[in-house]
Amino acid sequence: MNLEEKYKALEQEILHCQKCPLWRTRINPVPGQGSLKAKIMFIGEAPGANEDKEGKPFCGAAGKVLDHLLEIVDLDRKDIFITNILKCRPPQNRDPQKKEIEACAPYLERQIEIIKPKIICTLGNYSTSYIFEKYGLKNKIQGISKIHGQVFEVKNLFQNIKIIPLYHPAVVTYNIGMRKILEEDFKVLKNFISKI
Ligand code: URA
Ligand code: SF4
Repeated sequence: MNLEEKYKALEQEILHCQKCPLWRTRINPVPGQGSLKAKIMFIGEAPGANEDKEGKPFCGAAGKVLDHLLEIVDLDRKDIFITNILKCRPPQNRDPQKKEIEACAPYLERQIEIIKPKIICTLGNYSTSYIFEKYGLKNKIQGISKIHGQVFEVKNLFQNIKIIPLYHPAVVTYNIGMRKILEEDFKVLKNFISKI
């Protein structure tokens, strides 16, 4: 199977998944979107109402903020890959539960294996904690307010990966002052993009 076929098969699994109870309340699973050749992967938390309706990640208010930030660093959605820890919307956008993350994260793992990003940007606390644990950075886990915009280098079997934790873009929708901070962090990201 080539890359596209592998990904299509994975996507089909996600679209029919019933591995945790969220399948009962979702409208559409949201596998992710972007280029399979992306060097940068963004990982959010879970679909919200708009994403649930459309089946696409970050297509509501937080998505607008993300698009603005991407524009600042000359990145186009088609050149990156965007997904979430959970592929289905939790009712009323409540926080992801540990069991749901355990059930769903293998899909994210397979996406990372297929795409092999060189930079992983985690958006918010949930994806940051998950990715930090996965890459042996558990002792570095602190609230996102402490580590946002820092670059963490890790090695896996195939390559070096840079992990950059960022605030979740949704913070800007309830605290406009956060926009500047996110913009500064995206400039850090821009610096690294020029080196890959
Ligand atoms: N928030 C997320 O974490 N992901 C989305 O796809 C939309 C909003
Ligand atoms: Fe399956 Fe993940 Fe959706 Fe749960 S959230 S039903 S594990 S795709």
